[in-house]
Amino acid sequence: MTVGLCALATAFAAAAPANAADRAIRLTVDAGKPGATIDRHLFGQFAEQLGHGIYGGIWVGKDSAIPNTRGIRNDVVAALKAIKVPNVRWPGGCYADSYHWRDGIGPERTTRVNTAWGNVVDSNAFGTDEFMDFAQQVGAEAYISLNVGSGSVAEAQDWMEYMTADQPTTLAKLRAANGHPAPYRVAMMGIGNESWDCGGLMTPDEYTAELRRYARFVGSYNAKEPSLKIAVGPGTDDTAWTEAVMKTWKERHGWSFDIQGLSLHSYTIYDGWPPHMPSTNFDESAYAHVIKETLKMGPLIDKQSAVMDKYDPQKKIALVVDEWGAWLAPTPGTNPAFLMQQNSQRDAILAALNINIFARHADRVRMANIAQMINVLQAMILTDGPKMVLTPTYDVFKMYVPFQDATFIPVSYDAGSYVHGDTTLPRLDAIAARGKDGRIWLSLTNLDPNRPLDVDTAALGFKATSADGQTLSAPKVDSVNTFDHPRTVSPKPISGTLKNGAIVLTLPPASVTVVSLQP
Ligand code: AHR
Repeated sequence: MTVGLCALATAFAAAAPANAADRAIRLTVDAGKPGATIDRHLFGQFAEQLGHGIYGGIWVGKDSAIPNTRGIRNDVVAALKAIKVPNVRWPGGCYADSYHWRDGIGPERTTRVNTAWGNVVDSNAFGTDEFMDFAQQVGAEAYISLNVGSGSVAEAQDWMEYMTADQPTTLAKLRAANGHPAPYRVAMMGIGNESWDCGGLMTPDEYTAELRRYARFVGSYNAKEPSLKIAVGPGTDDTAWTEAVMKTWKERHGWSFDIQGLSLHSYTIYDGWPPHMPSTNFDESAYAHVIKETLKMGPLIDKQSAVMDKYDPQKKIALVVDEWGAWLAPTPGTNPAFLMQQNSQRDAILAALNINIFARHADRVRMANIAQMINVLQAMILTDGPKMVLTPTYDVFKMYVPFQDATFIPVSYDAGSYVHGDTTLPRLDAIAARGKDGRIWLSLTNLDPNRPLDVDTAALGFKATSADGQTLSAPKVDSVNTFDHPRTVSPKPISGTLKNGAIVLTLPPASVTVVSLQP
């Protein structure tokens, strides 16, 4: 049985004897029952034309003193290569529905006001060719968000032709004139963004009418490399939008119309809008509340997946969680429209818990994009001029690399409980998978910030004598990495040893641990 964490944790707490809290938790890994593939695209990123997400974070320009390759920061590219970013979503977000691609190609760029984010001037120095260059430098697939809100089917067709045409059309020649004769690969295209809100305030019926036209007429111009089409999905647990899109797909997908994904946006925002939970200097209560909030991702996916199952029991359409992460109060002194926030050990725990939820739903959730990659919201990387720092969330993504395209393996355990005030959380969250390297990998998160946790692992179907890997812990749950102290939070080696036939690991308080079991 794969554990239903909250329910089990509560049940365990009620029945447990007083001293049970500090006993080891027994984890049983059943390698004989492989599940779905944990698609590498679950580890996707999102880079919006927003604040310093692109300008300063990725793009510094060819003449910058910051080391760069064709204007793109070398330090950032090297860091991203190390976490094997599978895909990057661009140019938005809300920005996508006011983006006109011709503004950002060729020697003369059109300067615009970024009306989505802070009304600042956007030079469009970073456009399609620069994004594709960046994606190629990082080794990631391109996930392009089309403009449905203020654009047109014809504009989207032209953009896709410019990027993907492998025949000598006028737009393919324009691309060649701009320095790239070979077609780009657009692995995924998003048909709008949050069309129920910033993408056009549409009703489900209005959106599905647009979806039919865009999905029918817009696609890759390279028959050898079709683009997966991802429809706008819900941003809450209301299911009316999902019903409308799935019904449209069910009724029309034989008619030169198809989609392969439905998006879901869900941020962890504690205690209402606008986000006011600080990203630094918070207490245990703030930690516990935010973590409790983030665990709602599981029931949300269950609810939306149930609607998808009704129309698509074969799970042909992926649920694509292409915006997720902690949305906290802006860093004091920064432009609030730039959505800059620090990133703490709490964010690392939050990232691991969400990835684990996606992995448990891997048969339906086959892609996800954390928001956002650099300098915006729950970022991997923060930059300030020439300085760069890696966040605790970055470390989680790095530690999870072996889970990319691994095969999910069920684990069972009594999660125990961590109680703080009125908040009860599971004490342990765990997943297991067989990696492409053939090894069994475990990810173990100790949610309790006050107590280390002993886990003893019994493996069914294979022999293991030790476990080795890394653990990410921190002096406090609000510990962060700064430009002056860049590795306050950083992974350390951890090993488990065989005792009485089981491998015992001691997980530090509030930590994320990834180990592989050794024969
Ligand atoms: O990630 C920030 C914004 O959040 C995105 O632009 C939008 O899609 C969502 O509301």
